[in-house]
Amino acid sequence: MRHENIEKNIGLMTILTLIVVSVGGLVEIVPLFYIDDTVEEVESVRPFTPLEQRGRDIYVKEGCYLCHSQQVRPFRDEEIRYGHYSLAAESKYSHPFQWGSKRTGPDLARVGGKYSNEWQVQHLIAPRSVVPESVMPNYPHLMEELDYSQLQARMRALKAVGVPYTEEGEDELYQKNVERWGEDVAERLHIPNAEESLKAEAEEGNFDGDPSKLTEMDAIVAYLQVLGTMVDFDEYSEPEQGRSRGF
Ligand code: HEC
Repeated sequence: MRHENIEKNIGLMTILTLIVVSVGGLVEIVPLFYIDDTVEEVESVRPFTPLEQRGRDIYVKEGCYLCHSQQVRPFRDEEIRYGHYSLAAESKYSHPFQWGSKRTGPDLARVGGKYSNEWQVQHLIAPRSVVPESVMPNYPHLMEELDYSQLQARMRALKAVGVPYTEEGEDELYQKNVERWGEDVAERLHIPNAEESLKAEAEEGNFDGDPSKLTEMDAIVAYLQVLGTMVDFDEYSEPEQGRSRGF
């Protein structure tokens, strides 16, 4: 009966609708005012180096996210399998973040250091040669030469959305990067050095097993090997109530 009154009275209906929509809106908007408190600062999380960033582009280009998530959820089974649950800060410089939700393959948020470079290369070229039951596609074309012609433009685009890559003359930011992550990393995050840094890192890391060639494989393996390694969870102690979340 009361409902009928509301439905027949368009003025009342409008007011009540507005109230309902406002409550819904507030529930979504108010938490954003506290986002600074919610997203913990984790100083050791740094932007990707140019080589890792190129690897990330290839990861996206190849559609790896269609089968792999990069987010360990705060559930006991996930933590036992993958390690500490993901912190928001860990994907702070990942634009757009690769959390995903589809897991045809395992979560990759903490895959860095789990396997050797050789294993990663072999697995990407021919997954079934190392995991016979795998349904992952072969990616032999990753052994092709790496195109890094748009590297600096891509870094500038990321800088525009807040990633602290530095330009010539940005001494203050550069200095801050040095304090946070050390001189070597700050050099790699300096856009004018990007190409040199990318080549040097590929050569030093020798990710694809062939130091004479700079390949997409170098980049993607460099990227996979850094995933989940930026936070030292032995040092990082979380608030006690955090433990119970999701259990
Ligand atoms: C069709 C779905 C599919 C796609 C696309 C896919 N994978 Fe996989 N991936 C899997 C499956 C299934 C496994 C588990 C079996 C295995 O190890 O091969 C896996 C395993 C892995 C592992 C080992 C993880 C671990 O913890 O053991 C890595 C690393 C990996 N994939 C990287 C990639 C990358 C990089 C790409 C994109 C170039 C990619 N995958 C694309 C399905 C996929």
